[in-house]
Amino acid sequence: MSNTRNPDWNPRDPAILHQPLKAYDRMRCECPVAWSDYQHWSLFRHADVMRVLHEPETFSNTVSQHLSVPNGMDPPEHGRYRAIIEPYFSPDAMARFEPECRRIARELVQSLPEQGEVDVIPAFAEDFALRIQCAFMGWRSDLHEPLREWLHRNLAATLSGDREAMAQVAVDFDSTIRSLLAERREAGNQAPADTTTALMNETVNGRSLSDEELVSILRNWTVGELGTISASVGIVLHALAGDAVLRERITAQPETLNATIDELLRRDAPLMSNRRVTTCPVTLGGRRIEAGERITLLWAAANRDEAVFGDPDAIRPEANASSNLLYGAGIHVCPGAPLARLELGTLFEELLYWRPRFRHASGAEPRRAHYPAGGFASLKLAFG
Ligand code: HEM
Repeated sequence: MSNTRNPDWNPRDPAILHQPLKAYDRMRCECPVAWSDYQHWSLFRHADVMRVLHEPETFSNTVSQHLSVPNGMDPPEHGRYRAIIEPYFSPDAMARFEPECRRIARELVQSLPEQGEVDVIPAFAEDFALRIQCAFMGWRSDLHEPLREWLHRNLAATLSGDREAMAQVAVDFDSTIRSLLAERREAGNQAPADTTTALMNETVNGRSLSDEELVSILRNWTVGELGTISASVGIVLHALAGDAVLRERITAQPETLNATIDELLRRDAPLMSNRRVTTCPVTLGGRRIEAGERITLLWAAANRDEAVFGDPDAIRPEANASSNLLYGAGIHVCPGAPLARLELGTLFEELLYWRPRFRHASGAEPRRAHYPAGGFASLKLAFG
């Protein structure tokens, strides 16, 4: 039924991929609930996205038959797995990880040139995401490059909509993770006391987590972390490089850093979208949507809604914090937000201390990453 409908827009039009935020701003005014073959029903308005987030019984997360813990689950099953995951991001867990996080952040910041130009996406943003993810999970550094390749292949396969390629990327990732689980089982009591080993000892409904469940949790953490953290680093760098006043304000009032990062990531989303499927017919934005139809929540559009934020580009951390959907809302709100905030806050604290002077390199236009990735594919900065 869906594929015979006339599309309202084409999310993969090169002009939209090139400048997604402008296009989404326009769609929010002209056609805020829009159908396309690729995203199915896309929601651009804050109010529509909020409704979906707070009605999980109507807008289900079971969008695929593949196991996805806990993203692809609905209550009550979802709550049982959330309870396992949340303690890994508790204030105590974050305090334990902080020294290692700072060591990695400082090392990377100090590897930036004191004077000179560098494309900060591969050499800084991606490296930070890869190193910090492996450190948090207790994974060896020889996984950095396979994970980087996996991240790029995963994004390319999702953009092309090539299901076979997506399945192959998932299989490859799973086999890497399964070998990490096997190594730890073989090591028995000698297994490192890290996040991965701790997860392997968790139980659900009175039994151990299966390998399939463990792999799914680890895949979701890795997807959650690698793409979004590296996109976030690029977006914040892009904003700070173009705004010396903002940089000076943060340096003078370091306690505003974390709220400013959240606000910069509201106007320019690191995570573009998530999906739902309807369990019954609904009407959204005057459009009737049948049961079993797919919905795309466009965070990148909802978080720039003039009806809620006024001028979407104005930086107002305090006024906008309570409506900011950067980490979502409702039962699926991001459990990794404390980790993401720790990582980004620490990295930019170190950057503004060790390399406070940077700007856009002249003659080098930043290049946007393409949906489903947020942020930049290339961003050349001049330091010193
Ligand atoms: C700047 C970085 C991050 C952003 C912007 C972000 C954003 C989000 C958003 C918007 C959601 C809600 C999705 C939905 O409603 O469908 C979400 C869920 C989730 N995030 Fe994050 N995230 C980030 C970092 C992380 C990290 C570091 C982890 C873990 C290591 C993580 C793990 C997860 C998981 C497991 C879920 C699913 C939760 C559930 O379904 O109950 N995220 N994230």
